[in-house]
Formats: sequence, structure tokens, C-alpha cells
Amino acid sequence: MEAEQPVESISISDEELKSLTDAIHQRHGIDFSCYEPKSLKRRVIRSLHIFKLNAVHELWIKILKDRTFIYPFMDEISVGLTAMFRDPVLWKKMLQLLNESFIAKSNLSIWHAGCSSGEEVYTMGIVLRESNFKKPVEARATDISNQAMTIARSGEYHLLKMQEYDKNYQVFNPLSTLLKYYTVNHDTAGFDTSLIQHVNFEYHNLITDPFTRKYDIIFCRNVMIYFDNNAKLKLFEKFHGSLNPGGLFVIGFYDAVLPLVDETKFRVMDIESKIFQKI
Ligand SMILES: C[S@@+](CC[C@H](N)C(=O)[O-])C[C@H]1O[C@@H](n2cnc3c(N)ncnc32)[C@H](O)[C@@H]1O
Repeated sequence: MEAEQPVESISISDEELKSLTDAIHQRHGIDFSCYEPKSLKRRVIRSLHIFKLNAVHELWIKILKDRTFIYPFMDEISVGLTAMFRDPVLWKKMLQLLNESFIAKSNLSIWHAGCSSGEEVYTMGIVLRESNFKKPVEARATDISNQAMTIARSGEYHLLKMQEYDKNYQVFNPLSTLLKYYTVNHDTAGFDTSLIQHVNFEYHNLITDPFTRKYDIIFCRNVMIYFDNNAKLKLFEKFHGSLNPGGLFVIGFYDAVLPLVDETKFRVMDIESKIFQKI
């Protein structure tokens, strides 16, 4: 039996990465050519460790031979780091917008693009509940990780995460506690799924799948960091086309995209919260 190589000692050449992503593209139609190679390499190396493989060519063979392997592989390759009330200043601003700018609207449509395990979706559900906006809301939450979306649908998170999430929530609403939205069962916090009853979760790849609907608010936070500038520019165009007039586009705090945003298409509504408005 071959000895397992320590993951730190594995490196991937550009050629190896290309032959792997070409194989995935040909076999499964998933296009990785827009991803930033350095971070993609890091995640491929991490997946070798997870799947107990010793080299990229073993991964390559597995991807070509085992049709179903692509699903757990995609779950590993997508970095789902997220948190409830992440960047609390954004959620305070969102509450204000719901209570002031959106209050006259008869309904609201929202898209969480790259929703991961759903913390952002529950956060918005809580913000809506605590707002004065009581009209119908329809939301769509999408990702390329089905595993993450299964967690999102269940609303069950590890109890250990609640300390951080409640701390964030306290900044948003110091007069209340996140505890009122979940029940504790052993080491799990089970969130009230009625917070997301208006949400439809579905697989959607931002690089390859069509953008067909229109929304009042699009969140795409901490997703574009993995894409190269060319892909980001194409995405801005598509998000612009998917917003209703005056619609809002919300990006993540570390999405360093400001220089790429076309000032004739979006105006900066709130730079601190990273909210742009369709012109
Ligand atoms: C860091 S998480 C961000 C979660 C959440 N938006 C937030 O900011 O807390 C990034 C998510 O983007 C998803 N993702 C990566 N590439 C994608 C693509 N091409 N299409 C859709 N989602 C993608 C990943 O699966 C992952 O769940």
C-alpha cells in the first residue's frame, strides 16, 4: 500500500490544474476557468486530503471514472465560510431601508447568490421579521454546494457558533437576543424555519447558469473573491440586468470590486455596508 503524503508537501502545477479543470468541464460541464488559480489550487490540495488521495492524477481518475464523485468534490471545493449577522452594520442599514425606502412597495423579491449554509438567509429573515415591512416577500437562495443548502433548509447549526452569531446580533439589536429564534437540542441550535418559509433554495452556478428573473435586492457577498476580474465584470452586467429599477446590489466586505463597478450602471448607496443601487 502506498504511504499517504502529508498534505502540506503536495503542490500542483498550472498544467495539472488545467488538466483537472478541463476534465471536470468535459465530463460534467462545470467551468472553473474563471476561478483565481492560486486559491483553487489550495482548495484542490485540501480536497486531496479530505478524500485521502495522494496526488492530483488520482483525483483526475476519480472524477473521470466515478460519475457521482463530482457532488462531494464540489462541496469540498466551495468555501462556505459564513456567519449570521456577519457585518452587522449592513443589517442595521437593511432594516432602515426596509422601514423607509421599501415600505411603500407592495412586495419584495430577493436573491441570495452564493448562500452557502444559509446563515445570511436566516439573518435576512430575522431582519424582515423585526422590520415594519409586512407585505409579501419572495426570495431565492442559490449555491453550487448542495450539501451547504441541505444545512440551510434544515436551519440546524452547531451550538458553538451561537456565541459569535449572538454577538453579531447584539450589535444589530442590543435590546434583544438571538436565542428567541432557535431551540437548543444537545449541541445543535435549531432555527425557526418559518423565518425562511418564503425562500426557495436551488442549485445555480453563477458562472455557467442563466440569469432569468428580476429582483429588488441581490446579495452576492464573499463569492466573487474566488473569480478573476473578467468573470467579475461579466457578473456585474448580469446582476445589473437582474435588478428591478432602483434595485440594490449588496456585496461582501472583502469583495474588493469597487474599481470594477461601472459608475454609469450602479451608484454607491452606502459604502460602509457595501450597497450599490441600479441606476
Ligand atoms: C464564503 S461563502 C459566502 C456565503 C454568504 N454569502 C456570506 O457572505 O456569508 C461562498 C459561497 O459561494 C459559493 N460559490 C462558489 N462558486 C460559486 C458559483 N460559481 N456559483 C454559485 N455559488 C458559488 C460557495 O459554494 C460558497 O457557499
